[in-house]
Amino acid sequence: AGSPGEGRGLVNFRPVPVEEGASDARMPHISRNYRYQTLIPWGTDLLDADNDYNGDLMSRPSADEAATQVGIGHDGMWFFPIDQSRADLVPRGYRLSSTNGLLVVNHEFGANGHVLGFERDDSGALILSDSGAPISKNPESLEDVRLSQTVHGVTVAEITYGLIVENRSASRGWELVRGSSFNRRITVNTPVEFSGPVAFSELLENEAGNMPAGTVNNCGSGPTPWGTYITCEENFNGYFGANGELETTEEQERYGFSNSGFGYQWHVFDERFDLNNPLYANEQNRFGWCVEIDPFNPDAKPVKRTALGRFKHEAIAIKEIDRGRIAAYMGDDQRFDYCYKYESNRPWRQAIDDGESPLDDGKLFVARYNDDGTGEWIELTIENPALAARFSSQAELLVYTRVAADIVGATPMDRPEWTTIGKDGETYWTLTNNSRREEPNVANPEAPNGDGHIIKTMDVDSENFNWEFFVLASSSRDTEGVFTDPDAAWADADGRLFIGTDGGQPDGLQDQLVVFDTTADGEPEAKRLFVGVASDEITGFATTPNCEFAFINIQHPGNGLAEATNFPARPDGITTPRDCTVVLRRVNGGVIGS
Ligand code: FEO
Ligand code: CA
Ligand code: CA
Ligand code: CA
Repeated sequence: AGSPGEGRGLVNFRPVPVEEGASDARMPHISRNYRYQTLIPWGTDLLDADNDYNGDLMSRPSADEAATQVGIGHDGMWFFPIDQSRADLVPRGYRLSSTNGLLVVNHEFGANGHVLGFERDDSGALILSDSGAPISKNPESLEDVRLSQTVHGVTVAEITYGLIVENRSASRGWELVRGSSFNRRITVNTPVEFSGPVAFSELLENEAGNMPAGTVNNCGSGPTPWGTYITCEENFNGYFGANGELETTEEQERYGFSNSGFGYQWHVFDERFDLNNPLYANEQNRFGWCVEIDPFNPDAKPVKRTALGRFKHEAIAIKEIDRGRIAAYMGDDQRFDYCYKYESNRPWRQAIDDGESPLDDGKLFVARYNDDGTGEWIELTIENPALAARFSSQAELLVYTRVAADIVGATPMDRPEWTTIGKDGETYWTLTNNSRREEPNVANPEAPNGDGHIIKTMDVDSENFNWEFFVLASSSRDTEGVFTDPDAAWADADGRLFIGTDGGQPDGLQDQLVVFDTTADGEPEAKRLFVGVASDEITGFATTPNCEFAFINIQHPGNGLAEATNFPARPDGITTPRDCTVVLRRVNGGVIGS
């Protein structure tokens, strides 16, 4: 990869002007120095192009058909070079492939309206509720529920860069390798296993005796230094509901379980998700974890790493610390929830060599921010008398991590979303917004916080850190680099910070990808690289090893309404918009973000 230009800043592309970015929300806008292509939209069959679902709801796939198709709600992802699994065997300086690899993509969610369709009259026009909103179809059978379940989860897809011939024209681009032996779907019905302190806890056992299966609401993600992928389970509570009246426990309240969940209605046809079914009383405890997937081993079960705690895991960023141990930084995305850190007890290479996971043996901490720019990582351990008074074991403490963090006095934040590690080992935390904040605190100074902010932390040692604000999004309001609601985050080794937004953007903009130069002096300045389509969110971020290609995701385009956009189909198409990956590249090459 070339350097981004001698004697200039790290971020030199011409940003999308506000006026241009705010025009025509049916298709994306990109910096004039960049080009994009779309890849693996929802419904793309991993085996056979003849089985693709193109977004025409009249030919909706069956659950079985969806089982070999890319899911919906593209979110966190990572690119694993095809030769990475052999990386330890090749000489130092070996360049991993930037033209062939496994793209692992989370499928966070697809609302029933998007997947099953909206209520429409005979002419195809939307039927609106009294409040003027489109009405989603509800599942009418277990088959409908299975389709909804199957489009959630994770995809592993082999992709390759080369000449693509289409409609008698040829161009270079990325393409799915259909039928690759690595291609795989993981859904809420895929067998999984548990490891770490909670693995053998009765809190994970059901009277029904059903084996652990599945992962759901796979939001952000993070790669590990040993070449695997971690997918994070966020709003898992919303898939559970109750047949009959639900009397919630204190813990269920804290995790947001309710009678109707988020309206998916799985519990009506699938007893696993019925909170009132005594045979499945602990099914709810099987979700809310970080889940490790080995992309190069299609037969390996995903593993739920319980030492990392149970909460609404947004994403994870891992770095190497002293003696080759690892630290992992994780947000719990809810208003007034917390920032977490995990540290392995052993050097990761040693653990892996011994056939153990560095993610099974370690300490979990939660953050308290002080007003002098310092902070404390408070360990969540059963050896703390205040926690021993509430929990009978470390396993129980971990199942109810949020309750433990409440007890030790962690700092309530404005929705911690992604984390990423900067060039000097610092951690960036996106705090997306908090409409309900009435009292500011030291780390969350705006009440209410409509625009969100980004905090930077630097660990001093395991239990102490320093912190500062990187940027308050509200401070960008009157600038050409205006953005709000920071969510997805990725920092490169040179000092660029990429932020994907999720929330109504000002000045008529749709959600966007902006880039900061974290090495520049003065107030950080957002440069607009890409603007998405109506009602979408820009999320996920991965690059090829040479940093020439970046992969981002367009999530819930048009909120599923063809009236808003047909993306990625052409504007004159007639199909439901589909979540997809977008590949970005600088015209004539160069480092992404330069
Ligand atoms: Fe799935 Fe908090 O975003
Ligand atoms: Ca997010
Ligand atoms: Ca978000
Ligand atoms: Ca989302």
